[in-house]
Amino acid sequence: MQATRKLNDDIIWVGADDRRLHLFENLYPLPHGVSYNAYLIKDEKTVLLDTVDESAISQLIENVEHVLNGRKLDYIIVNHMEPDHCKGIKRILELYPDCKMVGNVTTFKFFDQLFDTTLSDERKVVVKEGDILDLGSHKLRFIFAPMVHWPEVMLTYDEKDKVLFSADAFGTFGTLDGNIFDDEIDFNSSWLTDARRYYTNIVGKYGPQTQAVLKKAANLDIAMIAPLHGPVWRNKLGMFVEKYDIWSSYRVEDPGSVVIIYGSMYGNTQEMCEALACMLGDMGLKKIKVYDVSETEKSYLIAECFRCEHLVFAAPTYNNGLYPKMKEFIEDMKMLNLQNRKVTVLGNGTWAPQSGKCMKEMLSEMKNMDISSVDITVKSRLKDSEAGFLKDIANDIVSRLGK
Ligand code: FEO
Repeated sequence: MQATRKLNDDIIWVGADDRRLHLFENLYPLPHGVSYNAYLIKDEKTVLLDTVDESAISQLIENVEHVLNGRKLDYIIVNHMEPDHCKGIKRILELYPDCKMVGNVTTFKFFDQLFDTTLSDERKVVVKEGDILDLGSHKLRFIFAPMVHWPEVMLTYDEKDKVLFSADAFGTFGTLDGNIFDDEIDFNSSWLTDARRYYTNIVGKYGPQTQAVLKKAANLDIAMIAPLHGPVWRNKLGMFVEKYDIWSSYRVEDPGSVVIIYGSMYGNTQEMCEALACMLGDMGLKKIKVYDVSETEKSYLIAECFRCEHLVFAAPTYNNGLYPKMKEFIEDMKMLNLQNRKVTVLGNGTWAPQSGKCMKEMLSEMKNMDISSVDITVKSRLKDSEAGFLKDIANDIVSRLGK
């Protein structure tokens, strides 16, 4: 049974929702599933923009056959050659033998790497930045977006209807459930957390490349943004573009916010963090979040660190170094290029404390991390009589937030 929706009379969403995939890229939890968006344009020529993951190919084919209603498919444009979008290409090319594949040089290179088949030259349309594919009334312009977040990525802009098919850019986790447009959902309460988690973990490393795409998009008259995951943007485009601008420039999204992330083997480091959070609350801070690095999956913590202004890391010493879960987390944060944050470090160790020093060393290798000199290293646990040290840290955080 087909399941499609119209963006307008000519452009139809022919993608699919996936509620079975447990981990996106076999890494990131999907508590609300994910959609694989594909779009079909009907004009004098017909074109499919991208396909879907392996699990959704049969749904895609039913949708495409329904929309084409007996017409042939002339082109398939491949904006992104990652398997969650390209797995259906081979089947589409078999079903529609006159269909030509449109991509750039790198797209075809990856096609050859991924598929055990050879595409004849007659079936290839190799495009360059700015090239136009003429469908009749629709003219599609190709805009390259290398490393957002793969090298072959390109966007396709429909000059007639002002639709920007944006590949992974402006995508989010979450299934669409029939409501494919941003004005049909409550994005801020239901989607924003997953959208931030999607961007920061999947694309976060490539902020400068995302900024370059935002600059190109700023020169376009855009009525809709149609990404490969999540809702189609036609109402609150400005809000979401602004979020992408903040995230990709590593600016603080939520001024005045503090996230405290701790590792704790027996609760002693946790206890110190709970006390600090209460002190900060007493001092009037309203946006404090506390997380256990062993309990909360790290993609959520990465998103929180992109959101917040002040980051506090607390962990015990382990094997004469840093508690492994905290070490892994800071390494991930460093890999994703997070920068421009205020940081406080709380160390712990029973006989030869090393964790504070290790965290400072790792954080100092990241760009523009303002690590406070007001810190603490406790031996086993903080006593009530030592609360003054923690109070100094709370005062330092509040003053650095300008409160
Ligand atoms: Fe949704 Fe980069 O693939």
